[in-house]
Amino acid sequence: MSNVHPYVGRATPRVDGPLKVSGLATYAAEFFAEDMLYAAAVPATIAKGRIKRIDLSAAKGAPGVVEILTHENRPEIPEDDAPYLNDMVAVPGSPFRPLRNDKVLYSGQAIALVIADSHENARHAASLVTAEFEVETPTVDVADARSTAYEPPVPRDGIPPPPPPRGDAEATFKGSEIRLKHDYRVAPEHHNPMELQATTVVWEGGGALTIHNKTQGVINPKNYICSVFSLDPEKVRVVSPFVGGAFGMALRPHYDLFLAVLAAIKLERSVRLVLTRGQMWTMGWRPDTLQTVALSADADGKLTSVSHHAIQATSQFEDYQEPIVNWSGLIYDCPNVSLKYELAKLDVSTPSDMRAPGATTGVYALEAAMDELAYELKMDPLELRLKNYAEKDGNDDKPFSSKELRAAYEQGAKRFGWSERSPEPRSMKEGKELVGYGVATGCWEAMMQPHSARAALSADGRLEVACGTADIGTGTYTILAQIGADAFGLPIEEVTAKVGDTSLPMAPVEGGSWAAASAGNAVQLACAALKEELLKAARGLDDSPLANADVAHVTFADGKIALTSDPEKSVSYADALKAAGSERLEAKGDFAPDGEFAEKYASYTHSAVFAEVRVDEELGVVRVERIVSAVAAGKILNLATARSQILGGVVMGVGMALHEESVWDKSLGRIMNANLGEYHVPAHADIHDIDVIFVDEEDKANPMGVKGLGEIGIVGAAAAVANAVFHATGKRIRELPITIDKLL
Ligand code: MOS
Repeated sequence: MSNVHPYVGRATPRVDGPLKVSGLATYAAEFFAEDMLYAAAVPATIAKGRIKRIDLSAAKGAPGVVEILTHENRPEIPEDDAPYLNDMVAVPGSPFRPLRNDKVLYSGQAIALVIADSHENARHAASLVTAEFEVETPTVDVADARSTAYEPPVPRDGIPPPPPPRGDAEATFKGSEIRLKHDYRVAPEHHNPMELQATTVVWEGGGALTIHNKTQGVINPKNYICSVFSLDPEKVRVVSPFVGGAFGMALRPHYDLFLAVLAAIKLERSVRLVLTRGQMWTMGWRPDTLQTVALSADADGKLTSVSHHAIQATSQFEDYQEPIVNWSGLIYDCPNVSLKYELAKLDVSTPSDMRAPGATTGVYALEAAMDELAYELKMDPLELRLKNYAEKDGNDDKPFSSKELRAAYEQGAKRFGWSERSPEPRSMKEGKELVGYGVATGCWEAMMQPHSARAALSADGRLEVACGTADIGTGTYTILAQIGADAFGLPIEEVTAKVGDTSLPMAPVEGGSWAAASAGNAVQLACAALKEELLKAARGLDDSPLANADVAHVTFADGKIALTSDPEKSVSYADALKAAGSERLEAKGDFAPDGEFAEKYASYTHSAVFAEVRVDEELGVVRVERIVSAVAAGKILNLATARSQILGGVVMGVGMALHEESVWDKSLGRIMNANLGEYHVPAHADIHDIDVIFVDEEDKANPMGVKGLGEIGIVGAAAAVANAVFHATGKRIRELPITIDKLL
């Protein structure tokens, strides 16, 4: 590729692309160590009760078995009685401790760990472990636990509970002529990234461990392991350069990490544990939720009240929270708002963040209800949304730092051809198929977190930019390299980006769509500091042509620092390094969100999603013909990776609307479709045209004006599809996914 600046803002190909497509990128289960052992976890076959007896005799006699750990022989750990384990994204409650005692809290819970000389031998021996249980009747459906719902006593760290009511939504609703109240439900989902959850622990000797763990942030497994096993942080390094998709499931440490480290310490050997595809359903998931939305409006479509109540599933041992209802208080302008959020405990594993946690589910219900209101008013659904456009965040009573949603509606509608929609349901047809158009709004927080980064220039002319964040497939490597390349006027091939290693400068987990803004600005700051260092060195040369220059008056390009007003006066990077007497010059950048700014402004990304579906009424088959997603997300760093983020989000939204559902058997308390054959995610044949628009939006919440894109693509996508299904068929299905049986 050519040395054309700026890279930032352009569709720069992924710098890690060649490694990934050639198989050279190394994932957690692909690191090797001398003499490594392989572990396999044995799942409980009941969902609630206790283990009466475990029979290990057959497994112990199987080939290659080295050790089997159960609750009866697992070493005690210092943190067994601690109320919390050190997990940066823990939720209130008492985190699960594998093999601690004989209790079974959810189906598939690991009840034994077999360690053998090969993966195959470990898996085989694990299949020979049998257990007898004392079985209690589990509850696994949130509707069956409705009467036990409670408001979470302790809010989750960093996640605001619903705001107090404003106005009087109930009285307004009662006094309204135009009103509706409906129940909505979204099926529980599991993330299903391609890469299985896995940990490879390399026993380095002397108590030192190098851990390769599938994670969205290396610092979290490191802190967790050090605290759980009382290890010296100096002796533990987590290195996880590549992540094969995660979507939130790898934010928290999982039992593979705990068990692999437990076994490595016990046996003083390197150990790898890869969970099976089925075991991917034994951890974090998008929780099952019961939602009720009530809306009222005056005759010209102005909302007079919004009420949103949700009951969401959690486990018996933790209060996982993603207050689903919050966005209903800020997407539209409305004086009377009542939001209520409750939990209900089930005999399941603790749910977790999954791409736009809370908003994905809650905004679906709000946007479906808004669509219903539009039909009741005989008003264009897009016009209804514009009529109620929020100029400020009603929850916090703050202006937005920027909000170009209006432009997103306009550009999206134009690209889609929304004006060609005929208003009546069932009024559009092509051949044997009914045609439907649907629209929905999306909204997600534009968050930031403190991040540190390092930039280093070496004598061979290469720049390295490094930050302990992760690239979960989002394009982090590429945007960091772009920022570095632009800062020093280098071809991007001469920039190395490093992430995913606890020896790099500190970053929290990559989540919440905050990585691009946070790590990006940190790298930008590190590069600015490095420029100062380099110029200082150049100034120090004998008879330096830049003797009195300051950084504002020089240009960094083509391997040299030149006076902007007189480019003949220059010092090469190599000479500056020599003057510094160093092979490598480095500088750090520390980024932190501007607290004062956040006091004054609310920052969100927005989207307008338009969907066209075709429904074959005889077969009940829904095909999503095309989707236009118009996104307002501040400065776009890389049009290619940004577009991919939105495409991925939209595809997951189509999955939520039409396909995805983890199905529990109520009497066994077990997920019956814990495999990719029966848990349907959209395949290529399900996805047709997806068109992504980024509208111009200038934002000042951080120096680069970046808002983040990992999550906004999914929010609203399922509602747009579901609303299009109604427009096509006249059938309002309020339970996702809209499968054939519900339409026929
Ligand atoms: Mo995201 S659900 O914070 O990985």
